[in-house]
Amino acid sequence: MTDIHIPQLINQAITASQRAYAPYSNYQVGAALLAQDGQIFTGCNVENATYPAGICAERTALVKAVSEGVRDFVAIAVVTRGGGSPCGICRQMLYEFAPHLRVIIADMNGTIHHDLPLKDLLPLGFSGIDLHK
Ligand code: THU
Repeated sequence: MTDIHIPQLINQAITASQRAYAPYSNYQVGAALLAQDGQIFTGCNVENATYPAGICAERTALVKAVSEGVRDFVAIAVVTRGGGSPCGICRQMLYEFAPHLRVIIADMNGTIHHDLPLKDLLPLGFSGIDLHK
């Protein structure tokens, strides 16, 4: 994956964020998950009147991909108005499938705030390997 794809990934995340259903927080989040085979799965946050029932943009993108049979991922772009970082639950969910994932955190202008490996966001992450120790 070259940097040439990064602006495209961020743009897709921005477009996805415009579909966010966030009437409670008014905080739109968009994600674009690049699979090894070149497919891009997008996601937005979808909130609910029962607040904990809502789902984050990153996990929306991830479950879309996995439910379509895609499990190998290269990078994810996550966009918010202020360049906010993925939550802990999303880090853990992504770690299950892609501990080496490249995470690009950007804002709605496309400005990159962070570009780092998921392992740096989730040091000593728990995985299925630990269950067999
Ligand atoms: N949110 C995400 O979509 N991703 C994150 O990683 C952080 C938080 C959403 C959840 C909720 O809809 C809103 O942002 C405010 O927390």
